[in-house]
Amino acid sequence: MKGLRHPFLQGAIVIAVGFVIFKYVIGYVLPVFGIASAPVPASVVFQYTLTVLVGVLLYMSAEESRWEKFREPLKRTMVDHDRRRLRGVLMVAIPALVGWLAYQNVKPSFGAPATLRSVHPAPPNQITYRGLPIELRGLENPLRHSGTLEEHVAVGRAIYTKNCVPCHGDRLDGDGHFAGAFNPIPADFTAPGTLPQLTESFVFWRIAKGGPGLPQEGAPWNSAMPAWENILEQDEIWATIIYLYEQSGASPRTWEAEGEEGAEE
Ligand code: HEC
Repeated sequence: MKGLRHPFLQGAIVIAVGFVIFKYVIGYVLPVFGIASAPVPASVVFQYTLTVLVGVLLYMSAEESRWEKFREPLKRTMVDHDRRRLRGVLMVAIPALVGWLAYQNVKPSFGAPATLRSVHPAPPNQITYRGLPIELRGLENPLRHSGTLEEHVAVGRAIYTKNCVPCHGDRLDGDGHFAGAFNPIPADFTAPGTLPQLTESFVFWRIAKGGPGLPQEGAPWNSAMPAWENILEQDEIWATIIYLYEQSGASPRTWEAEGEEGAEE
């Protein structure tokens, strides 16, 4: 094992061992025994390894003869005639490696989100509206039994145009001016999977409580949908709902249909 005596190899081994300890032993082996809790961030591993490198260089250069031996292989690789080929390979490999690392660093990742988003979470049975309780289960749109459809559609249209168009779009297709800025994108009320699948009570809940009112399960929702509870009156929300169904030509899911599905489960 004469090679192991060589300072250059010793230095390389110390640095490699340091890297393995910082990255794998602290990050993955110790947590198994409950000593450390999490992987070390890559930037910290890099800093620590750099510190080890500086230490190695200090140690090697502390003594003239050791330093001489330490840099001998480096010097030979850089100037010796018979190392020409190796030099050529390194001159390509090192810049390529640096380029690859830089590329890995800036490359955007399009990985799937860690949790799948359920678009229509189960609504709560009961909510409060400005402090007063409302039973959502079995709740019908009260405006369907009072006033005229035209009146409600007119009220709903005005509210929709004023409050909802920027996100949900003037065609109700979720393509408002702001839509591109949001992920998830605003709901498309013309899609077969949206209004026809929902009871009016569900839609009421979503408009009243918005993104902040979504249940804990399935978080993070990151929904930009505002809560309209403190801005709109209950009847204004119900009128908007009538407008949405009339304008998109859909009919709401009934509680009977909801019940049948519940029975199947
Ligand atoms: C700032 C943008 C924004 C505004 C303004 C906005 N919404 Fe939304 N809305 C969203 C986003 C984003 C979603 C999808 C995420 C979610 O379900 O919370 C959504 C979802 C919804 C849903 C749920 C649909 C479903 O399939 O579950 C309803 C209903 C809704 N919006 C109605 C309205 C109404 C009515 C208004 C106006 C009073 C309105 N929104 C205003 C952004 C907005």
